[in-house]
Amino acid sequence: VNHLLGIKYLQSEDIELIFQTAAQFKEVINRPIKKVPSLRDITVANLFFENSTRTRLSFELAEKRLSADVVNFSAASSSVSKGETLIDTVNNILSMKVDMVVMRHPKPGAAYFLSQHVDSIIVNAGDGAHEHPTQALLDSFSIRERLGDLAGKKIAIVGDILHSRVALSNILCLQKMGAEVEVCGPSTLIPKHIHSLGVRVSHDLRKSLEWCDVANMLRVQHERQDLKYFPSIREYTQRYGIDKALLDDLQHKIVIMHPGPINRGVEISTEVADSDQSIILNQVENGVAIRMAVLYLLAAKKKISFSA
Ligand code: CP
Repeated sequence: VNHLLGIKYLQSEDIELIFQTAAQFKEVINRPIKKVPSLRDITVANLFFENSTRTRLSFELAEKRLSADVVNFSAASSSVSKGETLIDTVNNILSMKVDMVVMRHPKPGAAYFLSQHVDSIIVNAGDGAHEHPTQALLDSFSIRERLGDLAGKKIAIVGDILHSRVALSNILCLQKMGAEVEVCGPSTLIPKHIHSLGVRVSHDLRKSLEWCDVANMLRVQHERQDLKYFPSIREYTQRYGIDKALLDDLQHKIVIMHPGPINRGVEISTEVADSDQSIILNQVENGVAIRMAVLYLLAAKKKISFSA
């Protein structure tokens, strides 16, 4: 069975195929009739053990645009609270003839673990601070849409790299597509092993912004923070937040991204988030087409080396 567990399992040709398929689906969902019958015989369960707005709704919309049957599961209102294990939960859901599982889980490696223990196609919708493959795919797709190509482009990923699954998946995806990546943030929020990934490291936001073509401003993850990493929000914003004055003062125009949800006034000001240099809502729009492409290609059992 093929899965999408992480960007680390994809080759650049797989990513290219996903992008080409997503571009076709993007045309479909911009038509008055947004649906195609591609997954008419497929049932998908969306399992969310952690909160989500964009990823959950976007997967559900993608599944419905592909004419799949959809069931949604949220841990908070389930029998997980009575002590049922992950494997028992998923096997019970699969016994109702579910073909694919989309799962978000707070534990790194949860999607991989599931793929080893249940008989279903597994799509990782974010596993702890590990990977968020569909976010990285939609981010790279959005950069390519705006700048024409990824090869040779300079991307700065700014903020809380340590706790971010978006950062790791983005680094892997961008590098596979030929982009150069710099991470920027306080040393307490950048993991020590990051050099082994072949990225540049900066602690100076202005220098990073002068270097890059695109700045991906990550959210400060209050829910994963330990105060030892993070002395003060005000200090963080002063050193690593982007505002209009800084954006306008740069030597060249850069593209601004953010995976959401935004902490307005912390890592990014409202003026920057809503400016014409921001592609934040394009990212969200492209999320549906990317997820349609992933689900379609997995269901069609295309040989695109998604397996671990
Ligand atoms: N970008 C992202 O994963 O957002 P959600 O947590 O709202 O799904």
